[in-house]
Amino acid sequence: MILKVSGIDSYYGNVQALHGVSLEVNEKEIVAVIGSNGAGKSTTMNSIMGAVPVKSGTIEFMGKDITKMKTHEISRLGIIEIPEGREVFPGMTVLENLEMGSYSIKRSRTELKNKIEEMYDLFPRLRERAKQRAGSLSGGEQQMLAVARGLMSDPKLLMCDEPSLGLAPVIVDDMFDIFIRVNKELGIPIIIVEQNAYMALQISKRCYVLENGYVTASGDSEKLSKDDTIIKAYLGG
Ligand SMILES: Nc1ncnc2c1ncn2[C@@H]1O[C@H](COP(=O)(O)OP(=O)(O)O)[C@@H](O)[C@H]1O
Ligand SMILES: [Mg+2]
Repeated sequence: MILKVSGIDSYYGNVQALHGVSLEVNEKEIVAVIGSNGAGKSTTMNSIMGAVPVKSGTIEFMGKDITKMKTHEISRLGIIEIPEGREVFPGMTVLENLEMGSYSIKRSRTELKNKIEEMYDLFPRLRERAKQRAGSLSGGEQQMLAVARGLMSDPKLLMCDEPSLGLAPVIVDDMFDIFIRVNKELGIPIIIVEQNAYMALQISKRCYVLENGYVTASGDSEKLSKDDTIIKAYLGG
């Protein structure tokens, strides 16, 4: 097991946002976290990253207790979060954004070049746009850049918060194909947080459903996508 979140309670000041949330990610697995707006999805990701205080419960990453660690220590261990809203550096070029993603890793010029080539093979659009300012890219291209920049640091776990937000449906399809490729070709486990439950259930192996800060359902994604309660609540059926 790569990640084990056990019964965490997280707070914003005195307000409890998560109630005993547990979730697990296994090697090479894509795990989905779905739920409506305000359910606690981002809070769960930010708790894992050490950005929201966890009052009780534990978070283990590759056998190490990271519950009380700081965000930069956690990312150094290999958890990379691509936050909601992507956050590329708009004034920098695509290439410069990719180089920034590598800053925490010691690489020779050649190694850096090879890594960037690897990203361009995965995202050919980024190769075409290498010299363009990130701010001038389309939403879908910016999302690709955000993922590629995250991958530059060779993460051991990638967490992506609402990657489909604000993207046109055909771009969303491309985006999810990319997650499947990253998972298959690089073997990186991925947590995908989505309000787009349909897509998230399609590409994940397992899924967790969050409601008002509680995990209210979890299990095999294919099974959950046939569950009446899930269909009614999240699949518009
Ligand atoms: N920075 C914050 N300060 C106070 N409350 C917050 C903050 N961020 C989120 N919340 C609250 O925590 C709950 C969960 O929010 P969030 O994790 O962002 O939900 P989701 O990502 O599922 O839409 C909501 O009630 C939200 O209003
Ligand atoms: Mg959110």
